[in-house]
Amino acid sequence: MRIKAPKTIVTFPRDGEILVYNYLTKDSITCAAGDVYWLTTAFNWTEIEDIVNTHPQLEPQSVRAVLQTLIETGMFIVEGSEQARLVETYEKTWEIGPAAALFHFTATDNEFAPEGTSAEVQRRRAEIDPSPILFTVNSKSAIDLPLCYGHEHQSLMNLMKRRRSNRLVKQHSISLEQLSECLYSGLGITGFVKTQTCTLPLKMTPSGGARNPYEAYVWVRKVIGITAGLYHYSALEHTLEKLVSETNLSPSQLMAGQEWTNDMSAVIFLVADLKRTTWKYCDTNAYRVVLIEAGHIAQNIMLTCTNHDLTACSTAALCHSEISRVFSLDSLTKMPLYALTLGHPEVTADTYVEIDTVKRQLTA
Ligand SMILES: Cc1cc2nc3c(=O)[nH]c(=O)nc-3n(C[C@H](O)[C@H](O)[C@H](O)COP(=O)(O)O)c2cc1C
Repeated sequence: MRIKAPKTIVTFPRDGEILVYNYLTKDSITCAAGDVYWLTTAFNWTEIEDIVNTHPQLEPQSVRAVLQTLIETGMFIVEGSEQARLVETYEKTWEIGPAAALFHFTATDNEFAPEGTSAEVQRRRAEIDPSPILFTVNSKSAIDLPLCYGHEHQSLMNLMKRRRSNRLVKQHSISLEQLSECLYSGLGITGFVKTQTCTLPLKMTPSGGARNPYEAYVWVRKVIGITAGLYHYSALEHTLEKLVSETNLSPSQLMAGQEWTNDMSAVIFLVADLKRTTWKYCDTNAYRVVLIEAGHIAQNIMLTCTNHDLTACSTAALCHSEISRVFSLDSLTKMPLYALTLGHPEVTADTYVEIDTVKRQLTA
């Protein structure tokens, strides 16, 4: 049997021991500093017995036992195994280095606190560690900025100010035109630009190198004119293609158990095709570029919703592997990152406070 240590292992000191962490699989062990040595005995595919034989001073059985433990805990991979195939694909496809990969895989499929417990956790934390202030105040010498919106800006400003996240929605359908406009404003291709190397798609949102890595997958629940199901949006054709008609899942199962998502008329999942960006930008910062772009797209979708008196609530609390499974996405190269739930807003449960009230309290 041949084994090797995958390149997806990092180590950290922890409480006098060493934490060994495989970020691709999220397996980890803690061990004595000296035991990390064993991971250096098989950088490439190596027969277990060859490792045993190169340590004649040690009891063969004890060496085999250590190697077996490292295999069982995912720190060594076995040639031909499922894990070895995963590592191989990772090594072929991941182009932007281990730092971005460490973050990317670690921040996938995380556990989220059940609804309700977050408030209690925050209350307890505030008792011993008050929250930082969520805005800053300049000194008296600061220049007062005029709020002089011109006529043409007025409607845009007002639209942007009206945008709110509503989790309470009416059980109404949205129209196909409304869904269509959300998709078009967020992802639709509006033209192309020819450069020395490529013809690049242009959209209403900016994109690093105009690589436009995002695709939209849509869960249609209640949309007049099309049947419920899971769809893919083509940004070039401005079409929706049905991928799956029936599913026994509910949206909350893709969105970390958030029950309120089950009432929504539609959900747009933003999925990044990392390769589009990393083909040009092969460094860690490329990952940052991809993340930033989701915000631009989401904001356009949200403002389009506001313009239609709909609400779009964003969520980054996703069950990434489950989303990849239902939409048949390659989990190493396609990255579900963000979801927007669309619906008709019900009167909100949030308590809003006027900005002037807070300003008055500060100066009192
Ligand atoms: C990156 C990001 C992730 C978010 N994730 C969630 C989420 O998982 N669940 C949720 O209920 N709201 C989520 N929200 C919505 C925020 O709670 C909301 O924007 C915030 O309360 C401010 O309200 P507003 O959108 O009406 O201004 C998210 C917002 C952003 C920008």
